[in-house]
Amino acid sequence: MKIAIFPGDGIGPEVTAQARRVLDALDLPGLTLFEGDVGAIAYRRHGHPLPQETLEMARAADAVLFGAVGDFACDDLPRELRPEQAILGLRSELGLFANLRPAAGFPGLEHLSSLKPEVARSIDLLVVRELNGDVYFGDKGERTSAGGREGWDAMSYNEDEVRRIAHVAFRAAMGRSKRLTSVDKANVLETSRIWRETVIEVAKKYPDVTLDHMYVDNAAMQFVKSPGQFDTIVTGNLFGDILSDQASACVGSIGLLASASLGERQTDYGTFGLYEPIHGSAPDIAGQGKANPVAAVLSLAMLLRHSLGREEDAVRIERAVEGILADGVFGGDLGGSASTSDIGEAILARLDS
Ligand code: IPM
Ligand code: MG
Repeated sequence: MKIAIFPGDGIGPEVTAQARRVLDALDLPGLTLFEGDVGAIAYRRHGHPLPQETLEMARAADAVLFGAVGDFACDDLPRELRPEQAILGLRSELGLFANLRPAAGFPGLEHLSSLKPEVARSIDLLVVRELNGDVYFGDKGERTSAGGREGWDAMSYNEDEVRRIAHVAFRAAMGRSKRLTSVDKANVLETSRIWRETVIEVAKKYPDVTLDHMYVDNAAMQFVKSPGQFDTIVTGNLFGDILSDQASACVGSIGLLASASLGERQTDYGTFGLYEPIHGSAPDIAGQGKANPVAAVLSLAMLLRHSLGREEDAVRIERAVEGILADGVFGGDLGGSASTSDIGEAILARLDS
């Protein structure tokens, strides 16, 4: 088993270090770890945010554990050299088209949500975000117009792209409460019209799943009004980016949510994937021991589940995290004073209890 760890920028190294402690504690037989550079740090060391060497390390691994990328010091670099290109490049080069972002309320944290506690308690959903298409990867550029410089980005989805993410979403819904909401903007966008028609066609193969459709603006409103109505959500790259950040604030903190990015490649142990917290590099708190490592540790749990076929270890980690949160081991993001390593330590101590 080979895991590649790419800590990246800002708080990335701090939070992945705690995930790595948890991984070490599991003492998995035959596990080899590799570490690679991504993001601004990779740009400084190798002249590119996603060096060829890092990409090859990822290709040779069974799974990738990713920290975060982003650095304000790179704001003026051309787009292809900016830190974000590391994660976008990995997603596209590795064919990781399906992004799973679970969001569920943690018992005892309801009062930390931006929503009323009784509303926050009802959150238990999975955002299935398409990750290889949409306006993210369409042609883009700058041109001159009568109104001055004009930026443009092409948005598109073809049927094959929609079909494969729809299948992932329907299968995920089958394993949950069999309700799927497809989020689009079909009242305005051609991209969304094809999206919706294709999802409806795929639905015929999953007669047990109840499918409904929602425009993204309405979904954003419904989400904060009554999140309990959602179970599995499937949506495109841009809408999924926005809705999944919104979901995290409703749970309590963006420092709590993990994600898995999966493609089609099967390994000897499961599906190859990249696992990362939903949060970014948070340069404002980097290097101060203030970051919450829970999202990174839960990303490791997802890695064990999807890529290494180690469901029991995944559940063990998830129980340990629930345990420390129930004990009130909170970092600054949750109004407490535990440091990044205190939280890692507490999770380790809980692993065997
Ligand atoms: C995310 C992030 C990325 C995205 C950025 C860092 C490119 O916001 O993973 O949600 O937009 O996909
Ligand atoms: Mg985002």
